[in-house]
Amino acid sequence: MLDGKPVLFSGMQATSTLQLGNYLGALKNWVSLSEKYECFYSVVDLHSITIRHEPAVLRNCSRDVLMLYIAAGLDPVRNCIFYQSHVPAHSELAWILNCFTYLGELNRMTQFKDKSAKHETNLNTGLFTYPVLQAADILLYQADYVPVGKDQKQHIELCRDIAQRFNAIYGDVFTIPEAHLGKSGAKVLSLQDPKKKMSKSDENINSCVFLLDDRDTIIRKFKKAVTDSLAEVKYDPENQPGVSNLLDIYAIFKETSAKEAAAEFNGKGYGELKAAVGETVADCLKPLQERYDELKADKAYIDSIIKANAEKASSVAGKTLQKVQKKMGLPFKVR
Ligand code: TYM
Repeated sequence: MLDGKPVLFSGMQATSTLQLGNYLGALKNWVSLSEKYECFYSVVDLHSITIRHEPAVLRNCSRDVLMLYIAAGLDPVRNCIFYQSHVPAHSELAWILNCFTYLGELNRMTQFKDKSAKHETNLNTGLFTYPVLQAADILLYQADYVPVGKDQKQHIELCRDIAQRFNAIYGDVFTIPEAHLGKSGAKVLSLQDPKKKMSKSDENINSCVFLLDDRDTIIRKFKKAVTDSLAEVKYDPENQPGVSNLLDIYAIFKETSAKEAAAEFNGKGYGELKAAVGETVADCLKPLQERYDELKADKAYIDSIIKANAEKASSVAGKTLQKVQKKMGLPFKVR
């Protein structure tokens, strides 16, 4: 609890700009949660360096992600929106939590397994201890809930285990967080391979819709979406994952259910469904894209938010870090 409200923490990497899965699985829900909770939303730039990157791309993407948070509707005064690297307590607590995390636990992380297969030539320890930094992010703010997509559930469970282990030794230091998954959109699938989740790192450019893709590109990507040969618009995620994914996306933007969306396309062809989904997504993302353009032009405003929120986050995080250091017997600073 902070100022009488439960606390939310979440974050996104800045390896490129955001894609539709990030938006429907997380960002869109964040906006609807900001009223009831004290919210901290970080651009987790330190997580983004676990894979090789171009410095200029990281810097630009980090700023883009921060602006997209605001463009999607997060009020940067009510929500603390900040860069992870601007709050050194994240790295400091991560080191401490490394000493409370077992190799076996990290070895079991499916995301580590996936990423190590993809980045065989750069199997660095950052990739391995990535979930520990994530645990530090969450625990520093004493977060009650962590709104994420389904792929992050395992990391949040590990975070709970680490926090419980620490509390069992040193008393009630950390709030034990819970993952908060949206009712829909928790796993948006690739448009080219509906067995996989949509991901910005996918090599097939048509598999993923970026929030800043222009209208024609969005419509074209949906037109190329892989479906099936059953030739019937039905909501059946098990047997028709491609079609069901399109219906899920359409339903979220139209604020209806996937089953009702399926009824709307009853008797119609896949071509019609794909065109309607593409147009709906392009229409619904237009205000976000316009707001992003305005924000991009207002450097001073964005800079002021970055500065003010880094201070706010540092103050909250610093308190938890001090508590941890004190409990563990690390020497007091001499003032
Ligand atoms: P990242 O950057 O991969 O994704 C950010 C958020 O988007 C969600 N997401 C999806 N949801 C539905 N369908 C998809 N296809 C899809 N792809 C991504 C993710 O579940 C996530 O909520 N490790 C995290 C970042 C992180 C973090 C944290 C999250 C670092 N520290 C602390 C929460 C709390 C990650 O790589 O997310």
